[in-house]
Order: sequence, then structure tokens, then C-alpha cells
Amino acid sequence: MAIVNQNFLNLSGRYLFSEITSKVNAFQKQNPEADIIRMGIGDVSRPLVPKVIEAMHQATQECSCSATFRGYGPEHGYSFLRQAICSSDYKSRGIDIDESEVFISDGAKSDTGNIGDILSCDNLIGITDPVYPVYIDTNMMTGRKIQYIICTPENGFTGDIPSNKLDVVYLCYPNNPTGAVITREKLQKWVDYALANDCLLLFDGAYEAFIRDESIPRSVYEIPEAKRCAIEFRSFSKTAGFTGIRCGYTVVPRELSAAAKDGSRVFLNGLWERRQSCKFNGASYISQRAAEAVYSPEGQAQITADIDAYLDTAKIIRAAMLEMGLNPTGGDNSPYIWSRTPNGMPSWEFFDYLLEKAGVVMTPGAGFGQAGEGWFRLTAFQQKDRTIEAMNRIIKYIK
Ligand code: MLT
Repeated sequence: MAIVNQNFLNLSGRYLFSEITSKVNAFQKQNPEADIIRMGIGDVSRPLVPKVIEAMHQATQECSCSATFRGYGPEHGYSFLRQAICSSDYKSRGIDIDESEVFISDGAKSDTGNIGDILSCDNLIGITDPVYPVYIDTNMMTGRKIQYIICTPENGFTGDIPSNKLDVVYLCYPNNPTGAVITREKLQKWVDYALANDCLLLFDGAYEAFIRDESIPRSVYEIPEAKRCAIEFRSFSKTAGFTGIRCGYTVVPRELSAAAKDGSRVFLNGLWERRQSCKFNGASYISQRAAEAVYSPEGQAQITADIDAYLDTAKIIRAAMLEMGLNPTGGDNSPYIWSRTPNGMPSWEFFDYLLEKAGVVMTPGAGFGQAGEGWFRLTAFQQKDRTIEAMNRIIKYIK
């Protein structure tokens, strides 16, 4: 008799964004004329930049003749991309990361979900609330105990440092969903906590490219000693519009270790290397050449212009929310804008209201955890004219 993983039965019926898609599709079916504006899932709307397209064409061309064709690539990524990451994302900021510490993948969603494979199910996991649902769902799938770290306007949505010992803590800054950033001082506190408690930090930096304030850390490794306690996840999805292309990477420093049952120390770089080479065959050559192109001077200029455009859209959303009498956070160094719902309406009720009245899709805060109830999230990834239209519609029904 095959027995299911019982833990799956404790999950909500659907993954948050699948639930939203299904609701929106049902609404569209009933209202075929409705012009729906999607500002729910953080999916980019701007096309890939020319330098990336050029690199993809060239990589495709290479694959068309036997002399330059590529089959299986190195499981952890091509050296050309790993080196570009080390020098552009880290060395340029005074951080020493070796190529062997960088693992190329098909995105941060997979890696933040899969990292649990190398960690015991007995770990007590700290997860900020509200949060990107992947961290919660994947830990629930293995039956791990979760302690929620409540994020509120009072603690700047960066959580209070726990007074008990947690084994693993997930942090994501700029934050999904609140759009909040973390100061160097606060991140230092988390690193100090992790070092003092032999706790592993899982730092999701998928939105670092949106940081415009130079005082805000872009990498956890900007904090001294963080290589002894943190894994960092990065993605090209939001940085360079790769939500469909798929490419990301994870940094597992060589000196980072965790305990085995007998108390001895095990290096996590080796474990992740073992996990990935067994379960993953690498991101495609074409995606990796595309990602490499992001680091060229033209690529950098082109993606920066795109991110600036999204940040301009974020300003439009913030201004409209202020006009509605709401008090949004995020959107300055982040593509997400987070706010309480008007009149304390429950999140999903407000979701239905906006969809039905205004034809606008947002993400209900409750989908990100209990602390998100009564809040909602809008993304700045929609096209500018559609965003203006969406805001005008919402203002009409909210004011
Ligand atoms: C989101 O909307 O929260 C993200 O787009 C989801 C993701 O990156 O997987």
C-alpha cells in the first residue's frame, strides 16, 4: 500500500498564486467582457532587454551546429556565469565569494523550497509573518515545527529578534510581501543572533536590484562573519525579467557548517553540491548565457532602466494609495507596495471586492500568513498605463 506524505494534508488546498489564478479565471469566464488588470503575482511585464536577447540568439545559434552544441552542462552552472556573479554581485561590493560557492539554478523559488532537503526535519524553523508562502509550505511538507516571527509596522516589518533558540531562520529583504527593507544595523542583529545560537540564516535576496538607497545592504554577506551562518538566494526573475526564462543562484559559503546528530560539524556547501548533482541537471545553457549578458555594461544599463521604470510605477501606486487615505509601505527600494485594507475589510473580501467592482487583481495579505490578514499587496510590475488605469478604478471605489 502506498501511503501519502501525511504532511501534505495539512497544507491549504492550493498554493496562494494558483488560488488567485483560479479565482480570476472563474471571474473572467463569468464576465468575458471584463478588462482585468493583474497586479497580484509579481510577474514582470517589460520584455527581455536587447543584450539578453542577443546573447540568447547567439547561444541558440551555437546549439545548431555540432562543433558548438551543448548537451548536459556542469550541474552547478557554467564557469562563465559563476565568475560573472562573483565579480559583479560580490567582489564589486568588497565581498569575497568563490566560484565554488555559487550554485546556478532555475530560480530562487526552487532553491528556497529545496534547501530543506539538506536540513533535519527536527529543526525548529523561524519564519517571518507575513511571508512568501514557499517557506511555510515547504516546511509544512516535511512536518517541521515553525515559529512565526511577527512583522509589523512597529518593528519595520523586520521582526523582533527571538528570545529563544531557533535552528533556522528565513529572511527576505527587500521583503516580499511588505516591500520593507532591512537596515545594516538590524541585519547585523540577525547575524549576531545566528552566530550566538548556531542558527542558520536563509537569506532571500531576490529583490536586491530594486535597492536605490546605498545605505541598505544588498547582500547578507555585507555583514562581517555572515559567511559562517548564512546561505543567500538570488534570482534573475525580477532583476532582469527572467520569470519565464528561469535562472537564479544560491551561495553556500565554504566555511558554513551545521551539526550532525553526533555533534560533529558538516559543511553545507558539500551537502548542497550533493543534493543538486543528484536531483538537478542545471539551468539551460541559453538561460545561463542570457544571465551572463546581464552583467555586461550594456546589460547593466538596460536592466537598470527597466527597474527604474518599475520603481516609477511603484511611485504611482504609492501616490494613489495616499490619495485613498491609506498608509502604504514599500515601493521605494522594492517592487511591492503593502497596505492595510480600507475600513479593516478582511483581505480575501477586499480581493473579491476589487476584482468585481474594479476588475483589478491584488494579492490578499492573508495569503502570506495570519499577520497579513487585513492587509493587501500590489505589485509595480504591471505596465505604467495599466497601473494608472487600475489606480483610477480603485480610487473610484475606495474614496
Ligand atoms: C510573488 O508574487 O510573490 C512572486 O512573484 C512569486 C515568486 O517569485 O515565485
